[in-house]
Amino acid sequence: MKIVITGSLGHISQPLAQALVAQGHTITVISSSEARKTEIEVLGAKAAIGSLKDTDFLTKTFTGAEAVYGMIPPNYEGEPDIIKYYEELGKNYAEAIKNAGVKRVVHLSSFGAHHAEGTGMIVGSHRVEELFNKIPDITLTHMRPTSFYYNLYGFIGSIKATGSIMANYGKDKTPMVAPEDIASAIAEELVKTDHAEKVRYVASDERTGAEIASVLGKAIGKPDLQWQLIDDEAMKKALESAGMPSNFASKLTELYAAIRTGKMAEDYYKHKPDLTGKIKLEEFAKEFAAAFSHQ
Ligand SMILES: NC(=O)c1ccc[n+]([C@@H]2O[C@H](COP(=O)([O-])OP(=O)(O)OC[C@H]3O[C@@H](n4cnc5c(N)ncnc54)[C@H](OP(=O)(O)O)[C@@H]3O)[C@@H](O)[C@H]2O)c1
Repeated sequence: MKIVITGSLGHISQPLAQALVAQGHTITVISSSEARKTEIEVLGAKAAIGSLKDTDFLTKTFTGAEAVYGMIPPNYEGEPDIIKYYEELGKNYAEAIKNAGVKRVVHLSSFGAHHAEGTGMIVGSHRVEELFNKIPDITLTHMRPTSFYYNLYGFIGSIKATGSIMANYGKDKTPMVAPEDIASAIAEELVKTDHAEKVRYVASDERTGAEIASVLGKAIGKPDLQWQLIDDEAMKKALESAGMPSNFASKLTELYAAIRTGKMAEDYYKHKPDLTGKIKLEEFAKEFAAAFSHQ
């Protein structure tokens, strides 16, 4: 099949491109960076260099494709309104998919995207789902992965500065996932010609904050590492003092609060998938330990 992958050689898109090339598909990978061209070609894929903000470029790149994987990069820097940023790219995708006549579309959404508000930047994924739902004559799957393990890197600063993980969620279990496991699920979906799922959740593990602190603590040589619950205001302040722009910190605090209240995972638990992801927290802890020692 001819498949276009957005997201360059990012966390999900690189293993996705590798899996699809290995299956013999003809893959085009979109990157915004000319410097990535050779790396993409070495993988056995074609590179299309341009921006997801450019609808004409997207239309041209999608033309002739049988399937498209569409994701919104977390490229929030300089974006005054994160939800508008999601909408802008969502509209571009919708127009390009229509113009190019693509028939199979897999969209990277998120758990929590069933809600129209109160979930931080995931409201953006909700809006993009709505935009994609209006595209006529396509077979569409919204992938709704749970919380990426790599979000936990954001707590390295807190561990180094205070000796503990401080967050406004974590009393209950948070479902988590590795990008490689999301890529495997997307690879399965993209080549489906029938029985495609409309919404597909992906998770690799479910752990409480205390369990996460225990596993990560052992991996970094701090077996007594604690997960400390803080309130929303303290969370936002901690993110800002770590250098996060205020609009991003507000959205992330709201998202974490929605994990705490159960709002984010409500629909996930109603349609709970098997924890098919192969990468469990203990495996991720090895990568976490390496990142911890380098920061
Ligand atoms: N974090 C979570 O817990 C979570 C949970 C559910 C869903 N999600 C979704 O997952 C997404 C992240 O996925 P990921 O980790 O695979 O992404 P990623 O690796 O962080 O980024 C993908 C790549 O997209 C490319 N890119 C950025 N801006 C571009 C533009 N304007 N035009 C073309 N390409 C551009 C960049 O590569 P180049 O520099 O080569 O262009 C970037 O490395 C989030 O944005 C969110 O929507 C996240």
